[in-house]
Amino acid sequence: MPSRTERYSIGGYDLDLSVSSGVFNPTTTTQRLADEVKIPAGATVLDLGCGVGPLAIVSALRGANPVFAVDIVPEAIELAKENIKRAGVADKVTALCGDLFEPVKDKKFDLIVNDVSGIADRVARLSPWYPDAVPTGGNDGTDVVLRMLETSPKHLKPNGALYFATSTLSDAAKIVRHAQKVFKDRVEQLSSYRFPFCPEFMQAINELRTLRDEGKVTFEERRSRYIWTLDLYRATTA
Ligand SMILES: C[S@@+](CC[C@H](N)C(=O)[O-])C[C@H]1O[C@@H](n2cnc3c(N)ncnc32)[C@H](O)[C@@H]1O
Repeated sequence: MPSRTERYSIGGYDLDLSVSSGVFNPTTTTQRLADEVKIPAGATVLDLGCGVGPLAIVSALRGANPVFAVDIVPEAIELAKENIKRAGVADKVTALCGDLFEPVKDKKFDLIVNDVSGIADRVARLSPWYPDAVPTGGNDGTDVVLRMLETSPKHLKPNGALYFATSTLSDAAKIVRHAQKVFKDRVEQLSSYRFPFCPEFMQAINELRTLRDEGKVTFEERRSRYIWTLDLYRATTA
């Protein structure tokens, strides 16, 4: 797909990023995650599900080194490499294409910033964010995130932290239960944001109600207003 350059304000930095209609482009979730993640200087960071690389770039600009950025979509990694170079952090950030931890299988990190697809398949395809080439989170949005949670402790150093988001456009409660199973009582909710449905969701409201009845998503319905929620979490290793 042809790329274009757009300016985004993420984590206190104005970034000129190459994006395209074939990949996941940065959203409000990207900005909220960047605001939440605290990076000790010199921390080793993995940006998992990096898209075009904004969170890896912000991590490096804040002093993380080395930073690895992984995404399963080859075009996203090509654009991420371009963006990493343009941001002047190519000496710190390595972008790799592959499934979850596979490209960094022998590495451990101080921080993992997880942003792999966590939205129910049907909702993702209705949304403006997920072009066909970008994998979704499966039937109820939890497939990739549950796999990530299972393997992440192996890739965290002692006192390491995993940041992750849940969205009620998936079975968010299932994700949190799984995180608590893996990390026990070391899972902390950091913040919560509510967003109105985008026009694409409003047009498909009956289908979304059916998905809600099936327990795959949840959202608030107040008169003619429909709201989904994004929650940010940190899980830590002992
Ligand atoms: C919600 S987007 C986040 C992108 C980026 N972090 C941002 O904020 O712009 C999710 C990303 O996870 C990637 N992804 C989905 N499944 C994956 C997997 N199994 N392994 C690695 N990346 C994956 C998608 O290609 C997509 O770029």
